Amino acid sequence: MSKSKQVVIEKKKTGRANKSEDDKEKQGVVEVFIMGKSYRVPAGLTIMKALEYAGYRFIRGCGCRAGFCGACSTVYRIEDEQKLGFDLACQKLVEDKMYLVQLPFVPAAKAVYDINKLEPSDSVLLTYYPEIARCVSCNTCTKSCPQDIEVMKYIQSAIRGDIAKCAEISFDCIQCGLCAMRCPADIKHYHVAQLARRIRGKYLDPKSKNLAKRLKEIEERKFDEEIEKLMKMDKKEIMELYRNRKIEAEESVIAGGD
Ligand code: SF4
Ligand code: SF4
Ligand code: FES
Repeated sequence: MSKSKQVVIEKKKTGRANKSEDDKEKQGVVEVFIMGKSYRVPAGLTIMKALEYAGYRFIRGCGCRAGFCGACSTVYRIEDEQKLGFDLACQKLVEDKMYLVQLPFVPAAKAVYDINKLEPSDSVLLTYYPEIARCVSCNTCTKSCPQDIEVMKYIQSAIRGDIAKCAEISFDCIQCGLCAMRCPADIKHYHVAQLARRIRGKYLDPKSKNLAKRLKEIEERKFDEEIEKLMKMDKKEIMELYRNRKIEAEESVIAGGD
């Protein structure tokens, strides 16, 4: 994150503001602190938009802006509150007296493996991520998750060797790393869960005939011409095409055998 020079930033006056917090809310303005500096920003902005409003430009830590990519995990504290807040900057709205800091990175040590050579045994997750055995069941990971995933539960499934369950519970993980940031046992939950989903997809779930067929078609470059055509279309033409697209009948998907 680097600071833009063009934007003028209103500095906080010394001490607490005279107006009550209610008055400020009515004016639609909240005061946030970015790396110690005070900024007044419109209420209702997300943290990400407030940072930009204050003159910062994102170089990294910003992806989809829609709560899916997990790039924007953020830590904050509200003045006079003991608890730290953890959330996605593109989703969480600013609050008055919110202190935001820049974190160097989310812990991301990842085991190295070749998925084609793995044994999908009960102990495989423990072998690659032995630290999961250190879980003390504090449930902090679950409380940190912006996706409301039962993170501790999927770690417990991993410890028991229930790969399918671990994959299922973690399915909506966006890999933001907020759980790993707070875990007292240094577990990298999202990497454990990703391995579980990979193993489940490769070894445990029934194979999809439709997927195999489509992959073969792609390898045979069946869609190259169509893609070329799409690339040359303007937005209006693409929208028209999308609106008039044929939707595959449900029966044909079922008939495909998946
Ligand atoms: S935060 Fe870590 S130690 Fe606590 S329940 Fe989650 S995985 Fe276990
Ligand atoms: S499980 Fe962890 S990494 Fe995945 S979305 Fe929840 S907090 Fe983020
Ligand atoms: S930018 Fe993708 S989740 Fe926030």
